[in-house]
Amino acid sequence: MCGIVGYLGNKNAVPVLMQGLKQLEYRGYDSSGIGIIHRKKLKIVKEKGKLDQLERKLSNNLSAQAGIAHTRWATHGGVTTENAHPHVGPGGKVIIVHNGIIDNYSTLKENLKKEGRVFLSDTDSEVVAHLVEKYIDLGPEQAVSKALSFLNGTYGLLFLFRDHPQLIIAARNGSPLVIGIGKDEMFVASDAMAFAGYTQNAIFVDDGEMVVLSQNEYRIINRQNNVIDKNIEELTIESGRHSKENYAHYLLKEIHEQPESVFRAMGRGGRLLPDFGTSLLGGLNMEKRDFFDIRKIHILAMGTALYAGELGKFILESLTRIPVEVSDASELCGTNPIVEKNTLFIALSQSGETRDTIGAIQEIQQKGGRVLGIVNSVGSTVARMTEGGVYIHAGSEISVASTKAFSNQVTILSLLALMIGRTRDISLSRGKELVEELKNLPGKIQSILDREDEIKIMAKRLKGHSSVLYLGRGINHAIAKESALKLKEISYIHAEAYSAGSLKHGPLALICEEMPSVFICTSGDYQEKTVSNIQEVKARGGKVLVISNYADDNLKALADEIFIVPQSDELLSPLLTVVPCQLLAYYTALALGRDIDQPRNLAKSVTVE
Ligand code: F6R
Repeated sequence: MCGIVGYLGNKNAVPVLMQGLKQLEYRGYDSSGIGIIHRKKLKIVKEKGKLDQLERKLSNNLSAQAGIAHTRWATHGGVTTENAHPHVGPGGKVIIVHNGIIDNYSTLKENLKKEGRVFLSDTDSEVVAHLVEKYIDLGPEQAVSKALSFLNGTYGLLFLFRDHPQLIIAARNGSPLVIGIGKDEMFVASDAMAFAGYTQNAIFVDDGEMVVLSQNEYRIINRQNNVIDKNIEELTIESGRHSKENYAHYLLKEIHEQPESVFRAMGRGGRLLPDFGTSLLGGLNMEKRDFFDIRKIHILAMGTALYAGELGKFILESLTRIPVEVSDASELCGTNPIVEKNTLFIALSQSGETRDTIGAIQEIQQKGGRVLGIVNSVGSTVARMTEGGVYIHAGSEISVASTKAFSNQVTILSLLALMIGRTRDISLSRGKELVEELKNLPGKIQSILDREDEIKIMAKRLKGHSSVLYLGRGINHAIAKESALKLKEISYIHAEAYSAGSLKHGPLALICEEMPSVFICTSGDYQEKTVSNIQEVKARGGKVLVISNYADDNLKALADEIFIVPQSDELLSPLLTVVPCQLLAYYTALALGRDIDQPRNLAKSVTVE
């Protein structure tokens, strides 16, 4: 979603900002722009489409020591050059870039129009430039403060002033913002990735704070108008310049990284305690004895993370015997959630910046609930706002569709279930068995990836269809949901997941030759019933692709295509069955020539509600 970056320093700001935007490109966007002070005037260059279109529009001799830049993901107003940021105040004295949504923009705009102000875009953001300029005679800092006092909504905002070329002001409310402190240069961005390669020293800005930046100094001012001290953190930002290596897409690379990333989630084995048949997760800020008090676990997440949470429910309930609820975070706030003393809330998020998840955490925390974060992005908002938590260590996930983060989230939930479960319900021998199974996972995932060609054949079966059903029972139902999401988001084929048991209650009417079904059918409790469901589909002329972990002749005869993953403990089997499903989505999308890493309309990090 929108990315913002600002720079002040001795280097030419234009290439530094362009590099920053490229580092943020993975978040998804539809237009971009850059604003600098050039020959004592504010100059804006913006364009819809990809960054190379913006780059073509920038003349080579453009230079400046300060500038702000933006990648836009349209919310208010279509994808046009006029709606791209930066936006300028009517007198050309200030430009702004904005990440977030100004909820009361239409009232503000109407009032400003009545004062004779003319707007150039359909965005909510432009009102901010108008407001600051309205009060500019108070001086930049006061003008920004005054403008912010009118805003309802979320923002990460950067301001650049024509008459103060050595100054950038930034403000945050609900959208991420981080300052990067270099030698004789300052950065400010929505994501530290934007200044990777320049500096590792960062300060995370919190809600209600305003930052006044010059080349060598920064001042952070809180809501009460006091200047505050904040810690400078040394980040380990991956060297920024991402590479697909020999892979055609980041998505394929990330799918292939799973043996290594799952191993990292297990702390390269260090988070497992084989002798005690348990795991050890630091950072929870909980003693083992605190586990006895947990009466309920409530997981909050969105999208793929939500499905990881649904799998987590099975694993946690099975190993801890504690009831687990999983909530779509976007729905939770509106429902006045019940927060009880002995409920442990867990927020799952790859980016740690998902607005809906953050909103749910805030609602629970203000009711006194305790929330742990299971997060990939180090230092992200969710990581900082939760009382404790675990990093999943998936590494940078660049492709918009989440794959390795999903596997790492499920791995961490499994480790957590094992850790809590061993204090309550499960025996040493069962614990040891699970530790052994966990240790074997990376190798088993690799063996699936080595048979990738089999999936290419399966993908040929899907690419000509406009709709696909994904079906599974129990733990496999959650995998069906995640796999359907993956197919629809990268191939644009409509895909729907149902529990195989619900097939006869409606969806069976859809079955015909044009509607293929993908069944996740593993050995164990649900095996026989799922096979019966496959038979029902075949009896009605439906084509069936099966992802399984056992192969008997009956199943092979029923399936039009079958892919067998290695055997594992049933609770951990989703970490294997998901891999062919990810590859199936990838190769179907590839056959259809889709923009796999940046699917249309989607953003990597959903920072608006
Ligand atoms: C799907 C996908 C999204 C995210 C969702 C939550 O492939 O990537 O559904 O899972 O937007 O994002 P995070 O995990 O960053 O909170």
